[in-house]
Amino acid sequence: MAAMAYQLTYVMLKPGVIQRRLVGEILRRLEDKGLELRGMKLMRIAREPAEEHYGEHRGKAFYDDLISYITSGPVLAMVIGGEEAIGRVRLLAGATRVDEALPGTIRGDFAAVTTKNIIHASDSPESAQREIGLFFLESEILEYEDPNGPWTV
Ligand code: PPS
Repeated sequence: MAAMAYQLTYVMLKPGVIQRRLVGEILRRLEDKGLELRGMKLMRIAREPAEEHYGEHRGKAFYDDLISYITSGPVLAMVIGGEEAIGRVRLLAGATRVDEALPGTIRGDFAAVTTKNIIHASDSPESAQREIGLFFLESEILEYEDPNGPWTV
């Protein structure tokens, strides 16, 4: 088996999740999987960081919708840690396109429109580092003892 690695990933609950009272349900799924909450803040993203965050999609047909959506209301930004956290959160989130997102995943269960697919999760260590750096100061990412260690590592 390939060696596993502890990773940090950037996860963002998109506009609408707060109003729909889905935060607890989604966080429960991350916690149930043994992932760690390392940073969290409720914020409204301005146009500039939104464009930086989604820079690789500039020019695509859905780009304008994507920027309008992400800046349209409060998001819950998080730094999530854990063994293979990047891939594990992507699995829990489900496929980007809602018609491909399986039941049991966050998008599969709660998203009906791809442009409003309710959760973002970094897709690689490079994206995770860039996205965390865009939205969090180093001092906002906490380290602490986790007595559940044997169940999560
Ligand atoms: S693609 O098609 O390879 O560029 O898609 P991907 O890299 O997986 O993610 C694109 C981000 O844009 C959001 N988005 C859409 N993707 C595809 N199709 C449509 N119509 C669309 N509308 C919005 C998608 O959710 C990805 O953002 P995040 O925040 O990562 O979910």
